Amino acid sequence: MSPWIVGQRLLRVVCIMLPVFFLQPAVVHAGDVSAGAALYETTCISCHGEGGDGNGVAADDFVLKPRPFAQAAFKFDTDADWESGSDADLMNVIKNGTAAYGGSAMMPPWSGLADSDIENLIAYIRSLEAVR
Ligand code: HEC
Repeated sequence: MSPWIVGQRLLRVVCIMLPVFFLQPAVVHAGDVSAGAALYETTCISCHGEGGDGNGVAADDFVLKPRPFAQAAFKFDTDADWESGSDADLMNVIKNGTAAYGGSAMMPPWSGLADSDIENLIAYIRSLEAVR
C-alpha cells in the first residue's frame, strides 16, 4: 500500500471520528442535585429538616441542632486548609460524622454511602445555599 493511500485512509478515519469527539457530552464531575435531594429525603431529613432548615423532627431535642444549610455556616475544616465547608470537608463530615472532628455525636458517619452518593448530597446542599 502506498503511503499516499495509507494517508488518505487515515484522513478518512479522522474525519469520521471527529464529530464523535465533539458530540461527547461534557464530562461532569459535579453531583446530581435531584438524586441528592432524593437521598437527602430518605436519609438526612429526619434531623436536617425540610429544605435543610435544621428543624428535622429527630433533632427536636438536640442540644446542638444542625445549622440551616441555606446559611452555609459550615463548621468543620477536616483537611486543615483554613477553609471550612469546602466540598472536601463536606465529603469527610458526611462520610465520618461530626464527632470525628470534635463535633456532635448526633451526626453519624455515613460510611455506607458511595462517594458518588455523597457528591450528589453535596450538590443538593449547595443548591440550598443558592436559594438564600
Ligand atoms: C441523627 C441526626 C442527623 C442525621 C440523620 C444527619 N445529620 Fe448531619 N448533622 C447533624 C447534627 C446534629 C449536625 C451538627 C453537628 C455539629 O455542629 O457538631 C450535623 C451537621 C451536618 C453538616 C454540617 C457540617 C459542618 O461543617 O458544619 C453536614 C454537611 C451534614 N450534617 C450533612 C448530613 C447529611 C448529608 C446527612 C444524610 C446523609 C446527615 N447530615 C444526616 C445531625 C444529623
